[in-house]
Amino acid sequence: MSDVTQPLTTPEDSDFVQFWNDVLAPKFIRFKHVLVDGLTQHSEAVFPSLPVNEGDRVLDVGCGFGDTAIKLAKLVGDSGEVVGIDCCDTFLDYARNDVEARGLKNISFMRGDAEIALPSEGFDFVFARFGTMFFANPVAGLRNMRKALRPGGRMVHIVWRNRADNPWLSMAKDVVLQFLPQPGEDAQTCGPGPFSMANEDTVRAMMEAAGYENIEFKRVDAQVLVGNDTQDAIDFQLAIGPAGEVFREAGDEAEGKRRTIEAALAKAIKQQKIAADGIVMDSSSWVISATNPEQ
Ligand SMILES: C[S@@+](CC[C@H](N)C(=O)[O-])C[C@H]1O[C@@H](n2cnc3c(N)ncnc32)[C@H](O)[C@@H]1O
Repeated sequence: MSDVTQPLTTPEDSDFVQFWNDVLAPKFIRFKHVLVDGLTQHSEAVFPSLPVNEGDRVLDVGCGFGDTAIKLAKLVGDSGEVVGIDCCDTFLDYARNDVEARGLKNISFMRGDAEIALPSEGFDFVFARFGTMFFANPVAGLRNMRKALRPGGRMVHIVWRNRADNPWLSMAKDVVLQFLPQPGEDAQTCGPGPFSMANEDTVRAMMEAAGYENIEFKRVDAQVLVGNDTQDAIDFQLAIGPAGEVFREAGDEAEGKRRTIEAALAKAIKQQKIAADGIVMDSSSWVISATNPEQ
């Protein structure tokens, strides 16, 4: 296995990278059951047809807890290799522990900011599940992903489609905004946000600017868990995502109105569908595939 696991250090973490590490990591851990379930629905729809073969070398960008990297490691087998990269140390600790517990030898993880640099090691395939929408400079991040590929190598990234088709994220924000102001220009965030790659034409132009060809979009719709029960769903919405951002930014005002906001959210959430594990809502993503040109 090649040694691409040294951290790609940056002189200073960006505000977004600090935000992932300091603010979002504890929340993502608390709601891992909701997030991993939801995100997996979208990757499972495409995993069986991913252009990944035994022996391939694969990079998983913004790998989070490492579950897709582990699935990719199974596809490439012992003769292949997977490198997962993420800017958040806590997620990487989870991923490393999981890999150790499973005794997998063909997978490693590194810390890095994909917008700044990625290992340019001629990977056969680059993957990202719900990571690229957080790039402040998406063309730079997407270009780094392309440069990590061998000539003719392929990539797939999965991003959310528009707000209207993602009520699991947008509905709670609409409720919370009945009581609290929109976050201001200087709001602390994790990057441009979940819907920044929803527009097909815009993302196609970004991908072309980053040097890709054969760019294709496939829509995937899925019902995703938003919480095991109503209170879990309320806590999730007030912690993470667009509603969580409005609530966090409103500070003391939000805490003062917590009971009223929770009651309004409970009313909206109780109208949603109940499945085996809890409450589910509609979500919709783009699975975007492309190739690095043969030079
Ligand atoms: C919504 S999570 C998705 C995690 C994982 N891919 C999954 O599907 O479970 C987004 C991930 O992207 C990572 N991330 C955001 N910006 C990044 C950047 N510039 N470089 C590397 N990782 C980044 C975050 O730390 C986080 O783990």
